[in-house]
Amino acid sequence: MLYIGVDLGTSAVKLLLMDSQGEIRRIESREYPLSFPHPGWSEQNPQDWWEQTLAGIDALLQGEDRSQVAGISFGGQMHGLVLLDEADEVIRPAILWNDGRTGEECDYLNEVIGKEKLSAYTANISFTGFTAPKILWVKNKEPENFARISKIMLPKDYIAYKLSGVHCTDVSDASGMLLFDVKNRCWSKEMCEICSVKESWLPTCYESYEVVGKILPEVAKCLGIPDSCVIAAGAGDNAAAAVGTGTVGDNRCNISLGTSGTIFISSKQFGVDKYNALHSFAHADGNFHLMGCMLSAASCNKWWMEDILGTKDFGAEQQDITEDKLGENHVYFLPYLMGERSPHNDPKARGTFIGMTMDSTRSDMTQAVLEGVAFALRDSLEVARSLGICPERTKICGGGAKSPLWKKIIANVLNLKLDIIESEEGPALGAAMLAAVACGEYASVEEIAEKMVKVVATVEPEPDLVAKYENRYQQFKEIYPACKAVYEKLF
Ligand code: XUL
Repeated sequence: MLYIGVDLGTSAVKLLLMDSQGEIRRIESREYPLSFPHPGWSEQNPQDWWEQTLAGIDALLQGEDRSQVAGISFGGQMHGLVLLDEADEVIRPAILWNDGRTGEECDYLNEVIGKEKLSAYTANISFTGFTAPKILWVKNKEPENFARISKIMLPKDYIAYKLSGVHCTDVSDASGMLLFDVKNRCWSKEMCEICSVKESWLPTCYESYEVVGKILPEVAKCLGIPDSCVIAAGAGDNAAAAVGTGTVGDNRCNISLGTSGTIFISSKQFGVDKYNALHSFAHADGNFHLMGCMLSAASCNKWWMEDILGTKDFGAEQQDITEDKLGENHVYFLPYLMGERSPHNDPKARGTFIGMTMDSTRSDMTQAVLEGVAFALRDSLEVARSLGICPERTKICGGGAKSPLWKKIIANVLNLKLDIIESEEGPALGAAMLAAVACGEYASVEEIAEKMVKVVATVEPEPDLVAKYENRYQQFKEIYPACKAVYEKLF
């Protein structure tokens, strides 16, 4: 049997074909545009996702026995708001996870409704990228669009809907809407009322490994796959990545270095960080997780390389950053190109270089970008440590994890052992694994992760370098509070 994992990312959809033995047969990727209509806003057209997903699945299956495709599932960029009208037409471009337009709506939710209530109803507070404040923004700023809403969905769920005709979501992605009672794994009536969300707009919520339906006959025909092919609910990209890296069950850690940067800690117990700096979400394995999310991670490096330095050769730019330079850099970079989520919750924060002198070089600045992302990840790890959650090791995945230098910096800044697994394709692989579980090939998500995920190497932190980076991190930590008042005035 063959299983397809669809990772609906921010820059591209990645598609992965896996067989019953867990072997990856092929990976395809199709890009689509991302628009920033105002500073801090971020939108995409759901039709682009659908067209590129269909084209990508077709390319993925070239030369394969299409009759063997048994299941499709998803990992998807979280929190994005997709609105459909009564005729199932998309009402407006999707508002994405890294969009910061909902400052006022977040203030209303956090300050007027109150963080205590939000946390009691959903286990989380409001962040600008979450879905509920976006619904309030549409209500406040685009009442004509609000009046047309018949269904709300998350990005990957739009693809599930186009493939199966079923209006569904899964517990991990639903957790990021701020409309979901994470502890009890069901919609929160109170939050829906607060956000003027009608029950009829909400998708049916499944566990990530559950079947939501079968592929629509006309789509099956167009792709040449059997109409018995099952569609499984899938997961938010971070939970899917955690499945793909074996971060399931109790107390395991994964770092994802994609457009966003996340640190993800799995748990069998439901738990909330008392300051709600970390998200408390349901996991795709049937359990729970805590997560810190920075809005710009590998995207900072991409911006610095492609848009500023004008190169695509990331490896060549990193060649001058030799071992002796690690922990010695006087240049710092605050990676807040889209504002910041965890732990600052500040949509007004901005990217900042500081500390340059006349002898600072291009490669010092490149190094500062890599280090700034590592320091900002450490900010979230410190919140977890303050709660007594102190992982010693972590997996790592995502585009940024391809750089050995960046992995070394992260291992030493965070003082964590980085276990490298065979494939860095976290979310797409996790999605295919969820499809295999939904089809009954494996009994549970934990079982497939146990059987499939293999550690092939470990990057160990080095005590001398850890100590040097500790000093640098203490300096980094002072920069954001010092700049905060300036960021406020930049608007
Ligand atoms: C998680 C988050 C991001 C997106 C990226 O809360 O907002 O990691 O899911 O796709």
